[in-house]
Amino acid sequence: MTAHKNKVDSRAFRTALGNFATGITVVTARAADGRPIGLTVNSFNSVSLEPPLVLWSLARSLPFAADFENCDHYAINVLAEDQQDLSQRFASRLEDKFAGLAFSEGLGGAPLLDGCCARFECRNTVRHPGGDHVVFISEVERFDRAERAPLVFHAGAYRRLA
Ligand SMILES: Cc1cc2nc3c(=O)[nH]c(=O)nc-3n(C[C@H](O)[C@H](O)[C@H](O)COP(=O)(O)O)c2cc1C
Repeated sequence: MTAHKNKVDSRAFRTALGNFATGITVVTARAADGRPIGLTVNSFNSVSLEPPLVLWSLARSLPFAADFENCDHYAINVLAEDQQDLSQRFASRLEDKFAGLAFSEGLGGAPLLDGCCARFECRNTVRHPGGDHVVFISEVERFDRAERAPLVFHAGAYRRLA
């Protein structure tokens, strides 16, 4: 097969991807120096039931990317419909995204956020290069859930289930 230069228009690509409605998660961990770190992520998905595996992808350009790659455990906090403020906070460039926030410590010290509709605690095992992102495929060691409706993201906007 001949190698072709990628001619996909990236703005149109992002717009088309936005038609895939997703939930919203905040992925959290402890940096090597003990600081809590986290970011808003909608690339989360399920992979396998036995063993229990999930995936998400992390932009390699982010300043704390190496801390996620090197941590033992991280947590995936699935946001409930009333947690849009957390999605915005963890997608921002705030110096301390955890300031004033209620959370407990999960495996490896990863912050577990209050009020979520599900939380998955994962062992950081396998990572694959994925272009400008790194794809994490990890085993879930612990999880919990609550009877709360999820926050939904579609076409660049936050939504609630009808
Ligand atoms: C709805 C939404 C989904 C996002 N999903 C991802 C994702 O899956 N992977 C990723 O690396 N960044 C994702 N981001 C961007 C990061 O949250 C953002 O770049 C990061 O929080 C910036 O952190 P920093 O300023 O501390 O570097 C998403 C942002 C939003 C608003």
